[in-house]
Amino acid sequence: MAGRYAGKHVFVAGASSGINLGIAHAFAAEGAKVTVLSRSADKIEAAAAGLHDAGAEAIGIACDVRDYPGLEAAYAEATGKFGPIDVLISGAAGNFLAPAVKLSANAFKTVVDIDLLGTFNVFRASYDHLVRPGASLIAITAGQAVHPSSFQIHACAAKAGVNMVTKCLALEWGPAGIRVNGISPGPIGDTEGMKRLGGDPAREQQIKGRLALRDYGTKADVAEAALWLSSPEAKYVTGAILNVDGGSDLGDASANALG
Ligand code: HXC
Ligand code: NAP
Repeated sequence: MAGRYAGKHVFVAGASSGINLGIAHAFAAEGAKVTVLSRSADKIEAAAAGLHDAGAEAIGIACDVRDYPGLEAAYAEATGKFGPIDVLISGAAGNFLAPAVKLSANAFKTVVDIDLLGTFNVFRASYDHLVRPGASLIAITAGQAVHPSSFQIHACAAKAGVNMVTKCLALEWGPAGIRVNGISPGPIGDTEGMKRLGGDPAREQQIKGRLALRDYGTKADVAEAALWLSSPEAKYVTGAILNVDGGSDLGDASANALG
């Protein structure tokens, strides 16, 4: 397929659904060969089939990002098929609302292991498989990395670590010509994340009312940012966390008072 990413190999971890699958489709539509990875063999095969149906060369690999040897095998398989990786997205995550006092140590650890350790694993295991100079690595983080949020101590702590992994790797791998950035989506409509965090229509209106742009974003909004961050136009951008959040990061000290 022709396009801005024709012939490039794009690898998306956590891509059986939602925002990350949207990113995979956006790169595929620009001509990329795409590898998608997630835990569930059924879901990731369906995701790869959807990419095929859209005209892309694509493979799906079932692997848990907490399984480092599994990731090493996944990179060997993917690069054996499509060559070294030009663009790598790390977006696997788990989240649910739970007050800290009800959260078991294992529940906290589970989310940290998927989001934070998983992001380290995905990036670390990829090192010998990246195009360099020129590879673009992107972690999918969240505003909760910098803004504390009730009932999400696990995800907040994990995403804060994801931001720091992103910045530390940008420093260490920059000299090899590898850029490492993050995208921080705000509330994105029609996603598992907002099903878990958004709740009922009244709560949705409340969340929207606190955003400068007064609406949820779309998966395409996030995908467009990934396309730009990985493009030659962004060749001097590394260690950045790009908010795609409708102004969520701005906060609004008067929001509660003004309603
Ligand atoms: C309290 C819970 C819980 C809940 C699970 N646990 N769900 N505790 N409230 N709702 C506890 C379990 O009791 C167990 O602890 C521990 O967590 C591990 O649970 P498992 O089911 O064994 O874990 P696992 O199968 O690995 O599944 C991970 C998961 C699950 C995170 C719990 O929800 C998942 O697979 N999620 C992936 C999809 C997802 O969450 N998508 C939304 C991402 S949105 P005990 O002590 O009983 O052993 C997102 C938004 C970003 O990230 C914005 C904020 C950062
Ligand atoms: P989603 O559809 O549930 O996506 C999460 C993906 O991660 C799924 O494909 C899931 O597939 C995979 N995954 C989960 N645990 C995994 C593991 N241990 N190993 C490998 N893959 C795993 O959720 P989403 O809402 O689109 O969120 C996508 C990303 O955006 C996440 O990083 C999230 O934190 C971030 N984000 C979302 C929002 C939002 O509004 N939705 C806001 C801010 C940030 P399997 O079940 O097949 O493994």
